[in-house]
Amino acid sequence: MEQFAQWLQATQLSVAIQSTTWLIPLLQSIHIVMIGVVFVAVLLLVLRVLGVARTDEPPSVVWAHFAPWIKRGVTVLALTGLVLIISEPVREFTALSFWLKMLLLALGIASIAALGSALRRDGAASRPLAVFTLLLWLAVIFLGRAIAYDVEVWGALSFKA
Ligand code: HEM
Repeated sequence: MEQFAQWLQATQLSVAIQSTTWLIPLLQSIHIVMIGVVFVAVLLLVLRVLGVARTDEPPSVVWAHFAPWIKRGVTVLALTGLVLIISEPVREFTALSFWLKMLLLALGIASIAALGSALRRDGAASRPLAVFTLLLWLAVIFLGRAIAYDVEVWGALSFKA
């Protein structure tokens, strides 16, 4: 994997992104704004399941309102994240936080989908699953930030150590 990352980092595409100095902060800013959008949508769905927010609306209406924000937001996160990876593949692929983030992101998407299948039918979604979903998304945010501090966070477990 590290060899692949070294190769990718030396490609013309990666070098072109690296040398367009304004592009990385722009993509990072879009990534950060989208984290806010997706997180608020996840939070409100979870709070609806817990009976704390938007209780005046049926669950299916709340789902129909927020699910598209999550879908589109995650798509933008994936696209901006992909370009960030191409620009610095060695940094990303050698970070334990990166791989854990991808794993928990997949679980976070699956658990939102599981909540959605109950909400769409106006059924009662599992409250523990809702809390677990929120914790998963918080962990994804932490791990995204932790990529820059992989050795500090994971010590000898980091592939960079
Ligand atoms: C497939 C989707 C995604 C990919 C490929 C991706 C990839 C990346 C990459 C490459 C970075 C730069 C990390 C670094 O070098 O320091 C990053 C940063 C980050 N990501 Fe993602 N990401 C994705 C989705 C998400 C999601 C869904 C969240 C949270 C809801 C998230 C939260 C973060 C955070 C908090 C940062 C740190 C931003 C900063 O400090 O500038 N990412 N992501």
